Parts: sequence; structure tokens; C-alpha cells
Amino acid sequence: MTSHYFEAQPTAAHRPGQVRVVLPDVYLELETDSGVFSPGRLDPGTRLLLEEAPPPPAEGDLLDLGCGYGPVACVLARRSPAARVWAIDVNERALGLTARNAARAGLANVRTATPDDPGVPGELAAIWSNPPIRIGKAALHDLLRGWLARLRPGGHACLVVGKNLGSDSLQSWLTGSGWPATRVAVRSGYRLLRIDRPEHHDLSAERTLVTPR
Ligand SMILES: C[S@@+](CC[C@H](N)C(=O)[O-])C[C@H]1O[C@@H](n2cnc3c(N)ncnc32)[C@H](O)[C@@H]1O
Repeated sequence: MTSHYFEAQPTAAHRPGQVRVVLPDVYLELETDSGVFSPGRLDPGTRLLLEEAPPPPAEGDLLDLGCGYGPVACVLARRSPAARVWAIDVNERALGLTARNAARAGLANVRTATPDDPGVPGELAAIWSNPPIRIGKAALHDLLRGWLARLRPGGHACLVVGKNLGSDSLQSWLTGSGWPATRVAVRSGYRLLRIDRPEHHDLSAERTLVTPR
């Protein structure tokens, strides 16, 4: 049976590894394992996000949507020590790694949770994500629609997506759905998209998209 990194309980035999996250302002050594996304190296898309995203809000609830072994959550937590960082994933092995990595790095402001955890706040100051494109377009749109709706006014989201994985069509879909997305960085086939929560978000565009024709 094929094993995907977004399974709830990966069946792949454990293969512990380590990834060093080396950024101008942050150095972290993170534990990885088989059955999670990019266990051998910091994914180049994730690197673009961590290097080029604007500084995260200093306070409030920040979300790493699809945390994997936790590079985004841990960097957010290091950059914004007074914020609370929610590291969300469906993959239990990934959540375990993120919790251990945050604890080992002394990042007490990271919370791991499954997407349906009622403890995750309804209002988020920022969402950073290398999203799970491979779950399919419809599922990805549902996922983003649900989480972006939780952005507080003035909040922002940063999403990194590969061009060959549909970054341009995702940008068009977001903009057409009432979430104007701008491209803030481009490198090695990856696009970093920024979405700012409009003060008055008009949901009518979203409703139009889901109305049967
Ligand atoms: C492209 S990986 C990014 C992992 C990590 N942030 C990184 O940069 O290395 C996307 C992650 O999203 C997770 N995922 C899949 N479906 C999800 C869902 N419905 N809600 C939250 N996370 C999900 C996957 O398990 C995977 O860990």
C-alpha cells in the first residue's frame, strides 16, 4: 500500500533523521522521520516562506497549517515569543515530532493539534503554510476557505506553492474568492503568496463558487 505523508497514522517504518534549519536569524536542529513531509532536508518551498515572509505578528494566535515535523511552527515561535503558535496536522507522527522539536528547542509557545481540535482559536492573527497541495484541488480549496475565514481583520496569510503544483491557478482562485493574493517572492519554481484579510470580507464570491449551475 502506498504511504502518503498526509495519512493520519503513517505505516512507514521509522527512520529517524535530523534537519538543520539555518536562517539569518534562527538556527534549529529538528528531528524528522519517515512518513512525514520532506524528512531529509528543509523543503525549498518552506525555505522560501521562512526567508521571505514578512515578520509575523508579535502577539496573538498564529497558525502553521500542515506543520509536518514543525519547521514553520518552530521558526514562528522563535520569531514571536509572545505569540501562541498552533501547529496543525492530520498526521499524528508529524504532530509528535513537532511537539518534541518545540520542547527540545525550548519553545513553550507551540501547541500541536489536529484540525478539528476545539481548542484551536476561532480568530487567528496570521496563517503561514506550505499547504498540502496533494490532497487535491477541491479538498485544498475547502481547507483554505475554512482557515482563511478565521483570520482576524488586519491579519495575513503566507502560502508557499510550487508553480508546477498550481500556484498561479491557486492565486487566481483565492483572488476570485474574495481573498486577494499577491505574489511576494519567487524562487526555484516556488511562489510565496500573501493574503491580507480585508476589513470587510465579502462572502458572496465564495457562495457563487459553490452554487450548483
Ligand atoms: C507540504 S507539507 C508541509 C509540512 C511542513 N510545514 C514543512 O514545511 O515541512 C503539508 C502538510 O499538511 C498536512 N495536511 C494534510 N492534510 C491536512 C489537513 N486537512 N489539515 C491540516 N494539515 C494537513 C500534511 O500531513 C503535511 O504534513
